[in-house]
Amino acid sequence: MRIAAIGDLHCQADSRGKIRELLRGVNEADVLLLAGDLTNVGLLEEMDVLLDELGHFDLPVVAVPGNHDHENDNIEVLLNMMRSRSIHVLDGTTFELGDVGFVGTKGFCGGFSNLRIQPFGERAIKAFIQATLDEVVRLENAAMSLSCPRKVGILHYSPISATLEGEEPELFPFLGSSLFADALDRQGTTVIVHGHAHKGSPEGKTQNNTPVYNVSRFVQTRFGRRPFFCFDL
Ligand SMILES: [Fe+2]
Ligand SMILES: [Fe+2]
Repeated sequence: MRIAAIGDLHCQADSRGKIRELLRGVNEADVLLLAGDLTNVGLLEEMDVLLDELGHFDLPVVAVPGNHDHENDNIEVLLNMMRSRSIHVLDGTTFELGDVGFVGTKGFCGGFSNLRIQPFGERAIKAFIQATLDEVVRLENAAMSLSCPRKVGILHYSPISATLEGEEPELFPFLGSSLFADALDRQGTTVIVHGHAHKGSPEGKTQNNTPVYNVSRFVQTRFGRRPFFCFDL
């Protein structure tokens, strides 16, 4: 299976024609993964444009939302607009295509390994990290439900710090959490893609040596590649 993946489309009301240009040639793949920040500020008109642009391509699309898609508090409406156009939206859920299982969620913050923010002290800090923990549990339960021999994890936030290299280190706790990598490792995930870190690096590995690709279109083009990343599974 040839898998194409792209994050951070940041579709705006005036992006008509531009998104289909970014995705030119993507029909060669068997499936397209969208790793969040689908819209720029979560407006319905931005999603309308994105769905029209995606209508120019004829392959299954699997998507997770990003933080930008939450900006105007329309997230459920946006996700339902996508579902009504047959896009497989993953929100702590799964989708199977042949013998490949896709499991995804937006992900969230908290940092990495021994530098993770701990849920200690003030309620605000505990609530912040609890949002991460809740999403990790939903992702891991979904991954556990897959019986496919190969599993692909799709996130918006990064599950490892290696693919953040290039971003300011002070920002790392707000760019992802290694708890998502740990959960996907425990469930035998084959490969993980994410976006969000526009200035990050294209690839790294989890503790289990699972490949992780930062498919943010800004990273891909900065490394001289097409805006979307392709790999075979
Ligand atoms: Fe983004
Ligand atoms: Fe983002």
